[in-house]
Amino acid sequence: MNTVLVTGGSGYIGSHTVLQLLEQNKNVIVFDNLSNSSLESLNRVSEITGKRAEFIEGDIRDTDALGDVFSKNDIDAVIHFAGLKAVGESVEKPMLYYENNVYGTLNLCNVMAQHGCKNIIFSSSATVYGDPAALPLHEGLPTGQPTNPYGQSKLMVELILKDICNADNDWNVVLLRYFNPVGAHPSGRIGEDPNGIPNNLMPFITQVATGKLKQLSVFGDDYNTPDGTGVRDYIHVEDLANGHLKALDKIASKAGLFTCNLGTGQGYSVLDMVKTFEAASGQKIPYVIAPRRSGDVASCYADPALAAKELGWKAEKGLKEMCEDSWRWQSNNPNGY
Ligand code: NAD
Ligand code: UFG
Repeated sequence: MNTVLVTGGSGYIGSHTVLQLLEQNKNVIVFDNLSNSSLESLNRVSEITGKRAEFIEGDIRDTDALGDVFSKNDIDAVIHFAGLKAVGESVEKPMLYYENNVYGTLNLCNVMAQHGCKNIIFSSSATVYGDPAALPLHEGLPTGQPTNPYGQSKLMVELILKDICNADNDWNVVLLRYFNPVGAHPSGRIGEDPNGIPNNLMPFITQVATGKLKQLSVFGDDYNTPDGTGVRDYIHVEDLANGHLKALDKIASKAGLFTCNLGTGQGYSVLDMVKTFEAASGQKIPYVIAPRRSGDVASCYADPALAAKELGWKAEKGLKEMCEDSWRWQSNNPNGY
């Protein structure tokens, strides 16, 4: 697995993964339409590693552009991050989400098959479990009913990739179900750079800490959780990125279809996150209790045992490090890239 095509590689998780691939001396090609990222992320990855990924600006829905990349390079595997991920926007623009995330992936797989590259790692999400049938969430549980088109698009792509794998034994597919990625590279040079007002908890908190946003709204304090606020499995983006390198090894062993959680196994509440962030940053985070956000579940955390057994992977970094690294990135780059 020497030459890897990384779709969406200039984004948040992609850039941290590209960094680790370069550190492992892989030949990396990034294919991204820059719809939700900046090329500056990859410039900084080069600055940190002293190595460069080839960058191609293109859209996964563009068959010719993708075909060109496969014609010119001998690609061993694809790590497929490219996709739109804003839950609220997906409710307003379902067609855009299905076209970008579902059709885009189908197009990518078609081009891959035409060029004899049948190895893919897909960025799925814990959202495919829907409202948890049991906790911790393990891969043996049935998938549920995601509450929005974004989540549905992840589940649809999982089903499509499973069928592709069932129909043709040459395919090796790893479906990675991420829990809640946070944190940044410890250099503070790359990190999460959302457009506009963040939807997710950690970037919202860091922007309150810089003074860009006034206060955090805690969405509900009447859940059936220890302090009444929502519980999630936050995972450091560097640990998450490392999971993809392990998944490449799995693909090299010709594993066929493999579905796996990437989480820590530890759930933390919104208020745990606020307290830990305050301690790690020395900044006060003013907050108010607001109504529940529609579509949110009370608790969601992983059983990470399968990743340990089959990938030899385990999350190493705790909540304190996640908060420290997120804060270093945000305070050094208050306006992002
Ligand atoms: P991101 O938005 O930072 O990165 C996605 C990248 O894909 C961006 O650089 C964007 O420009 C690119 N892109 C989008 N549509 C494209 C297209 N049609 N053609 C080419 N490039 C395109 O998001 P991220 O947080 O790094 O997430 C990466 C992947 O992981 C996404 O598929 C996302 O759905 C999935 N995921 C993310 C989370 C999370 O909380 N961050 C959780 C679960 C799953
Ligand atoms: N929260 C707040 N206030 C905010 C933002 C979030 O109280 O301003 C709370 C939420 O209610 C939830 C927790 O913080 O209890 C985490 O919320 P996030 O939006 O950060 O994350 P979610 O778990 O809702 O969603 C994330 C990704 C989705 C993915 C899902 C499941 O954003 O893409 O995990 O994997 F589908």
